[in-house]
Amino acid sequence: MDRRRRPFVAVTFAMTVDGKITTRAFSPVDFTSREDKRHLLRQRSLGDAVLIGKSTLARDNVRLGLPDPKMRAEREERGQPPYPLRVIVSNEGRIDPALNIFQTGFSPIVIFSTTRMPRKYQIALREKATLRLSDARSVDLQWMLSQLQSEYGVRRVACEGGAELFRSLLELRLVDQLNLTIAPYIFGGKKAPTLTGRDPAFLPASVRCSLVEMRTIEEECFLQYRLRYAPNDLRPGGTGRSRAL
Ligand SMILES: NC(=O)c1ccc[n+]([C@@H]2O[C@H](COP(=O)([O-])OP(=O)(O)OC[C@H]3O[C@@H](n4cnc5c(N)ncnc54)[C@H](OP(=O)(O)O)[C@@H]3O)[C@@H](O)[C@H]2O)c1
Repeated sequence: MDRRRRPFVAVTFAMTVDGKITTRAFSPVDFTSREDKRHLLRQRSLGDAVLIGKSTLARDNVRLGLPDPKMRAEREERGQPPYPLRVIVSNEGRIDPALNIFQTGFSPIVIFSTTRMPRKYQIALREKATLRLSDARSVDLQWMLSQLQSEYGVRRVACEGGAELFRSLLELRLVDQLNLTIAPYIFGGKKAPTLTGRDPAFLPASVRCSLVEMRTIEEECFLQYRLRYAPNDLRPGGTGRSRAL
């Protein structure tokens, strides 16, 4: 999709040394430093919108706010509202209206979902958020991004995962930047998800990540990549040539 018809998409994740983003129970697990949490908030503060998948929202019960007044002031200096627009994506639409995010009103909430969302959820959520429901079985993420740009003036999206949403965006070549923190732990476990979740299938094509920045603070490594999608990217399913050394 032509980049001019959609916002810039930056995704932020933290992972363990063995590439896990959480435990196999998907339970909220605090494995990063205060510095990393500040890094996440800084990335959030750069976005006109912050985007999150339904499971991450439900499991981490985040409000997607910006507690630091300095970050809010910097946004206003850049001509942005003090808080980013909050965007939730879910195909089924069973999003609990009692979640913390719906108890706060510091910025609008938009939910992109489908008409599969049960009626009782539609009624409850309409009081708290704008519902953008499509008739298709799943949300068209390209359309969602173009809508964010044209209807809400979003030029930069700060995506906070989770893995399933990240994978869907990657498959459609919709991620421009990856901010990745490597935290000093090894979790192990085949069932604990990596950045792209637990889907055993390869991506349709490998994605080239160009390292733009690398900082280490104490025992954590903060990486920033630009993602590039070349027409002849390696097919990780096996057609790429292996290096027999
Ligand atoms: N370490 C980190 O930096 C980090 C970051 C984020 C999350 N996490 C962790 O990751 C876990 C959640 O991961 P996850 O992969 O299950 O979460 P997720 O991507 O947040 O949520 C998956 C759900 O989001 C919706 N969704 C995903 N892709 C979609 C698409 N293309 N179109 C429409 N809806 C879509 C679907 O909702 P419906 O089922 O409702 O259709 C799907 O079931 C949590 O434990 C969280 O703590 C860790």
